[in-house]
Amino acid sequence: MSDAELAQSSVDPVSNVLKWLLLVVAILCFGMMIWATVETYDEAPPHPQAFVDRSGNVVMSGDDIVAGKGGFQKADLMDYGSIYGMGSYFGEDYTASALVRLGVLTKQALTNSAATPPNTKAPGNKSLAVTGPGGTPPLPTTAPASSIPEAFADAAATATMQKQLQGIDLTQQRVVLPDAVAQAVRGLQGELTTKLSTVNLSAGWVPAKSLNPELRMQTADFIIYSAFTTVARRPNHPNTSWTENWPFEPSVGNTPTTNTFQWTWISFCFTFFAMGFVLWLYRAYLDHPDDAPMERGLAVYRALTPSQKKTGKYFLVVALVFLASQGAGAIMAHSYYERETFYGIQLNYILPFNFLRSFHLQAPIIWIGLGWIASGLFIAPAIAGGREAKGQGFLVDLLFWVSLFVVGAALLGNYLGIQGVIDKGWFWFGNQGLSYIQLGRFWQILFFVALLSWSGLMFRALWPSRDTLVEATRQFWTGAIRLEHLIWAATINVAVLYAFGMIPLTGIEKSFTITDFWRWWVVHLWVEQSFEFFAVAMSAYLLMSLGLVSRKLAERSVYLELILIFLGGVLGTGHHLYWGGGPGMWVPLGSMFSFIEVLPLVLLILEAISQHRLIKSQAVFDYSLAYLYLLGSAFWNFVGAGVFGGGTLNAPLVNYYEHGTFLTLNHAHTSLFGAFGLLALGLIYFCLRYRAGPNAKFDERWGRIAFWCYNIGLAMWIFLHFFPIGWPQLNAVYEHGFAWARSQAFYNTTLFWQWMRLPGDVVFSIGGLLMAWDFIVKLRQRPVELKA
Ligand code: HEM
Ligand SMILES: [Fe+2]
Repeated sequence: MSDAELAQSSVDPVSNVLKWLLLVVAILCFGMMIWATVETYDEAPPHPQAFVDRSGNVVMSGDDIVAGKGGFQKADLMDYGSIYGMGSYFGEDYTASALVRLGVLTKQALTNSAATPPNTKAPGNKSLAVTGPGGTPPLPTTAPASSIPEAFADAAATATMQKQLQGIDLTQQRVVLPDAVAQAVRGLQGELTTKLSTVNLSAGWVPAKSLNPELRMQTADFIIYSAFTTVARRPNHPNTSWTENWPFEPSVGNTPTTNTFQWTWISFCFTFFAMGFVLWLYRAYLDHPDDAPMERGLAVYRALTPSQKKTGKYFLVVALVFLASQGAGAIMAHSYYERETFYGIQLNYILPFNFLRSFHLQAPIIWIGLGWIASGLFIAPAIAGGREAKGQGFLVDLLFWVSLFVVGAALLGNYLGIQGVIDKGWFWFGNQGLSYIQLGRFWQILFFVALLSWSGLMFRALWPSRDTLVEATRQFWTGAIRLEHLIWAATINVAVLYAFGMIPLTGIEKSFTITDFWRWWVVHLWVEQSFEFFAVAMSAYLLMSLGLVSRKLAERSVYLELILIFLGGVLGTGHHLYWGGGPGMWVPLGSMFSFIEVLPLVLLILEAISQHRLIKSQAVFDYSLAYLYLLGSAFWNFVGAGVFGGGTLNAPLVNYYEHGTFLTLNHAHTSLFGAFGLLALGLIYFCLRYRAGPNAKFDERWGRIAFWCYNIGLAMWIFLHFFPIGWPQLNAVYEHGFAWARSQAFYNTTLFWQWMRLPGDVVFSIGGLLMAWDFIVKLRQRPVELKA
């Protein structure tokens, strides 16, 4: 296709409008995000200097609470249990169980029944009777009041307890706790420190080795403070706690707020409207006969450039880390139904659950990341017509070895941090204790540099010479923004967002609300904004460059999808911030904007259907295996992210009960692997096919079988594991409160379905093994020699 024709196709008037709209939307959304950040800092729960009893004795100091946050992170308790519902579902939710115990102990102190052992004089609400100091909670029971006066006394004690807890004023520098609450806090400090240092194999718990006695006590203070924030009222909001009354614990008066209810129905109405609007947009502007000129840039095989030849080892590491993460996942899944041992082997001490989880969560970032990095680096020289800048091969090698070193060192640091070997330097080199970004800060900085380098290498690869760069720059500044520009922009978008997970750079932040806010900047904005950006731009490019759709249509639809992705994805971060202590405005912002996120996913699936038809109509199509994975990715993006994320979890009133349960696991697996994992594997298969050369023998059988293993495995996980546990767990929250639904008493009712995770694991892993073998076979195959 000539340059003139290309220039012609870039002046599509629809694209032109969409492009400006995209720019405005991107600036507006990130602008609003800056404003929302300031609000979040302002409204986060304050940190009093001290909590004292009525005689002025310090019960908990502000400094201890902050140090305890460090202890919580250092021991990576977020990967054993959770805090504010964030973290692992294996152990208890520390915030909720501490809240429940505060209620029980305060009430006991009020009724002056300190001599009564906990839980025997059962409180009025079922959920109060949980998580005794021994670790294993009893089944919830409601002891009937033996007489009417006793019932009245009980109700009066409950009401006083709730009033006292809700009345804690966190805006004071010195918070004077009522006697009963002070007594409860002291009792709970003892319980929590004992718990942290006592082996409880029936809960899969071995003591946090990295915590010394002082840090254990401080960690207990931090947990208790987190419970305070969930029940203490915000100033001038008599019915709303700092966490919007989350978790659901009616025993202490925590029930959904009007804000939560109201924005649920408003966002539902809005979603139906928006869905109609987007379907209209699709029919009006995208669903047209594609009569614009086609390009076939990647349909031509060219001799491999030096850097392209170097990407094979990346693919092997992808397969290796992918398999290793399945291994860790399988052991973790086993732990849910046999907590003491792994088939009789005592693993808890050598491989504690939280280490396995910290590996399991970072592994997809590593292998999906490496998959994209490598396939991007492979495809870019092909986009540039088989040319590349000097030294590109060396740099691709260097990036590989540096990344491998950083990944290895970071994982080792995670382990040594949890095991207490890296003590003082835990924050820099050990385990930062934040789900998905557990790696020590030093490794995190290096990882960030590696991502930036990837973006730099992509830049060099896409525009390898002065001429190409000048032309691309000219196009960009004259408004002819091409898919190539967008692909590169997506890589820099991925890299830059990662930096926000490092605020503040050199030490730990004192507020968990703020820490978690920045954590979601990476986790959410990565997957739901920059990853979607990369996915949409890359898949559109591949289709276009294989001559299946015109550049005009491809760019049009990418612009439209990106507008929706930015519009929904950026402020949609709010769906993770409903209950973490941020301002109440995250409920409307999070729900309304993140429902928009579902819309581009609907478009993607509509497009995938028509592309599938196009491919089927081709006599020969070399990339059908890669395309199968891309199709799977669009499908799971819609089901895993759209239906299981948007549909199942997103509405605030549902999320209020659902947050921190197995339904999140369901969404996380199906969307992260389904949408982005399959995309990474599809891109690798694309590269492998291109590498093999024209008319090469390229056996698709094993790749196809692996693909179906993954899909069947995912379906088995959903129907034999996530759903049969997740939905009853959701009901359990609704009926008994969150703490109980996360207790072992609840999990013990799910053992059969925990066990039923295994069949899906087997099918999925067979896929992984076949695919890894297939990669090796294909990489050993010598490409057909072509002239450069
Ligand atoms: C492919 C894109 C997506 C990926 C990879 C993804 C991934 C994840 C992951 C890994 C988590 C779990 C975080 C944790 O462990 O706490 C999560 C949580 C969540 N996601 Fe997504 N997500 C995607 C799209 C979406 C969309 C489109 C929505 C809604 C419109 C959504 C709504 C949510 C919500 C509400 C939660 C929090 C659940 C809770 O703990 O209460 N996600 N997502
Ligand atoms: Fe999200």
